[in-house]
Amino acid sequence: MNTEAFAAHESNVRRYGRSFPTVFTKAIGATIQDEAGKTYIDFFVGSGALNYGHNNPTIIGPAIEYLAGGNIILSLDMYTAAKREFIEVFVESILKPRGLSYKIQFPGPTGTNANEAALALARKYTGRSNVMAFTNAFHGMSLGSLAVSGAASTRQLGGVARHDVIRVPYEGYPSHAFDSAAYIDYLIGDPGSGIEKPAAIILETVQAEGGMNTASAAWLGEIQSVCRKHGIVLIIDDIQAGAGRTGDFFSFEFAKIEPDIVCLSKSLSASGFPLSVVLMRPDMDIWTPGEHSGTFRGNNLAFVTAGAMFKLWSDRQFKADVESTTAKLQAHLDRLVDKFPRCIEQKRGRGLMAGLKCHSQAVVGRVHDVAFQNGLLIEASGPNRDVIKVLPPITITEDELEHAMSILESALQEQVSDDHATI
Ligand SMILES: Cc1ncc(COP(=O)(O)O)c(C=O)c1O
Repeated sequence: MNTEAFAAHESNVRRYGRSFPTVFTKAIGATIQDEAGKTYIDFFVGSGALNYGHNNPTIIGPAIEYLAGGNIILSLDMYTAAKREFIEVFVESILKPRGLSYKIQFPGPTGTNANEAALALARKYTGRSNVMAFTNAFHGMSLGSLAVSGAASTRQLGGVARHDVIRVPYEGYPSHAFDSAAYIDYLIGDPGSGIEKPAAIILETVQAEGGMNTASAAWLGEIQSVCRKHGIVLIIDDIQAGAGRTGDFFSFEFAKIEPDIVCLSKSLSASGFPLSVVLMRPDMDIWTPGEHSGTFRGNNLAFVTAGAMFKLWSDRQFKADVESTTAKLQAHLDRLVDKFPRCIEQKRGRGLMAGLKCHSQAVVGRVHDVAFQNGLLIEASGPNRDVIKVLPPITITEDELEHAMSILESALQEQVSDDHATI
């Protein structure tokens, strides 16, 4: 495989190309193909940006038609027919059925753009500068998002101080014996705690990059109560967990909470076209015209593909299929946890946003390499890179899921056999 151009000319910062050292050309559904014609099942899915698979015909078809029709591609925040359709379908198919009435802001196209806008809005709205953020959080690579992220490896980036962030323990950190919601409530209410009241609490309901740590419905409810009690804005970063990944459109639906601000990106366009939104409680929309901007806010191709995806959520069969895929995946993972206690410590995540916490980074590295050789893309996460991320497209077929799980199983089996041989 000719990877010379990348090695010679692309910056050392490249990462996934090293992780999957081949040259990809085509992809459809849950599969992706390289230049040599080898097919892989994709459990990496663009790090959560391709929940609906590659080139899903229901989603990409309208974009091909749109592109061929000489329609507007880029519109900043001007009005276009594609954007009107996006808004109308989002309101009708996603917000209204869930009893939500958010206003929609289109910031720049990536997840971190949405988080930066959300943090700026919460600070403006409350007039406070502090934000509360969690251990093992990941919110993006721009300075404001890095400041609220947890991992030491990326927080140092940029070489400037990160102010105005109060770090608090996520649910289960350092163990479930510690009641972090009660601690946060006490900390905010206690005049002797030494902290200023925060503008916002920002959190992921499943911390993907942080190791597939999950928040329970009860804990999320308590955090919402803390926010309401103290007049703090609750921001849910649903950039990786939202847009269907956990089995519902929003990852917080199961907890029956209503965040003040929600950030979506990654799989929002359902196609790989960059798009993000900030959803805000209508009374929080205190932006003045043009106060927050960005060139690539009007990706009309992304509006078209997102609209096609939103409509899927009104289809009962689609939802039943996602539920059944979730049950099958979870059963497979339970079986692997039982079968390989020497490799796997515990199952993590929720719904189709799953993970396997292994005993070491080395195990994950070897499983990753063998799986890749045998035709399955998986990635590691967590501060110690010892969690296998299991992110199938939510539209994966039963046969593809079975095939992928058999590759994962034989990669784990190989670790057990190798370990045995060296004992
Ligand atoms: C929860 C979460 N928030 C924000 C981001 C940043 O998104 P982007 O890489 O599009 O800026 C990510 C990316 O992985 C993420 O997982």
